[in-house]
Amino acid sequence: MNIPPTTPLTPITRQDCQVLDAADPLRALRDAFDIPAGLIYLDGNSLGVMPKSAAACAARVVTQEWGQGLIGSWNAAGWFSLPQRLGARIAPLIGAGTDEVLATDSTSINLYKVLSAALDNASSGNAAQDAPARRQVLSERSNFPTDLYIAEGLCRERGFTLTLVEPENIASSLNAEVAVLLLTHVNYRTGAMHDMAAVNAAAHAAGALVVWDLAHSAGAVPVALKDSDADYAVGCGYKYLNGGPGAPAFLWVHPRHTDRFRQPLAGWWGHAAPFAFTPDYQPAAGIARYLCGTQPVVSLSLLGCGLEAFEAAQALGGMAALRAKSLALSDLFIRLVGERCAGHGVGLATPLPHAQRGSQVCLTRPTGAFAIVQALIARGVVGDFRAGDGAAQPDILRFGLTPLYIGFEDVWNAVEQLREVLESGEWQRPEFHRQHAVT
Ligand SMILES: Cc1ncc(COP(=O)(O)O)c(C=O)c1O
Repeated sequence: MNIPPTTPLTPITRQDCQVLDAADPLRALRDAFDIPAGLIYLDGNSLGVMPKSAAACAARVVTQEWGQGLIGSWNAAGWFSLPQRLGARIAPLIGAGTDEVLATDSTSINLYKVLSAALDNASSGNAAQDAPARRQVLSERSNFPTDLYIAEGLCRERGFTLTLVEPENIASSLNAEVAVLLLTHVNYRTGAMHDMAAVNAAAHAAGALVVWDLAHSAGAVPVALKDSDADYAVGCGYKYLNGGPGAPAFLWVHPRHTDRFRQPLAGWWGHAAPFAFTPDYQPAAGIARYLCGTQPVVSLSLLGCGLEAFEAAQALGGMAALRAKSLALSDLFIRLVGERCAGHGVGLATPLPHAQRGSQVCLTRPTGAFAIVQALIARGVVGDFRAGDGAAQPDILRFGLTPLYIGFEDVWNAVEQLREVLESGEWQRPEFHRQHAVT
């Protein structure tokens, strides 16, 4: 057991957790979600839970707006402006202006759009004096694979090179050849969080632009895109934003770049006058140029339901209060695993310092990580498993601690189930070793 004690206090009890729940000012936010009875859902970093308002919203959009309003709903129900209106609601969660964000497409597709624009930008001579010499995209080896695949494909298309380094070598790799630094703010495997302002400053000092993936940050930790002077960002709608399976993602472009560069998927929705039907492409002014084609109205509408809880949280301290609770939950989780699961080979992959941690706790174990997660799921504690590479990267047991709907006693119960799974050795049963398509 390599989890260091976080505090020298006497062991915490279930009653202590109940007291924390009773005093939690955010407790009522949980009531906005439909969570199956008895389930402890620690996978909101993968797929958020369903807002209670979602079913009625879907029914309204389908039966009234589509069924009755038909094509008139593009105007009357505001379907056409949904990407901008939802973007304006996401903006406060990521420190962006309300007219700078779009809810649209997937994270992967949005990354293709903004990274391509960033490469044009970096090659234009505007981002740095020596721009034409800059032919590198720099990223982290442990970045989420889709980010690396999209970057690799674009680099191949555009004659750039993708350079991958370990996180501790990012600063020293920012040299005169780097055009764009592409990072995920909170690492999907470890929950480690970059210091966004420091990274942006270092990249800009080296003449590079920064593209951020906020998939594990938006709605999980406060993000200050504009104050930290970021350049571009994308993020996910179905994780912490609770937008539903396959929910549209979002993108942000700093206004200093928006109107100066085009994105490559120049469809008619990003045209200055889509209904003029002109044969030539004129990009819309502002962030609308990052739209491509017709948007999935039902999914976009459901994303709006996910954002309602954040709007309700606003009166209770907003993201700052959610962050304080998230850290308290993850501190508790780490401490309880340290106290109650000692001697079972469980390690901690998530950094202990608060400033370096997102809203998930990731554990390691040399063997059995997948089966332990399956055994926990069978007991009603849902986390997930991320495979290592058998060498530098260990197998990960991943637990998302979403402060909107997880309580302190949930954490106690989850760790208690983990202790029982480890002590009983039940994870060794064959049914917990069966692989599924999605882990
Ligand atoms: C960091 C990160 N980026 C992107 C994605 C997924 O992108 P998409 O929604 O396009 O599948 C994920 C999914 O887990 C992710 O963790």
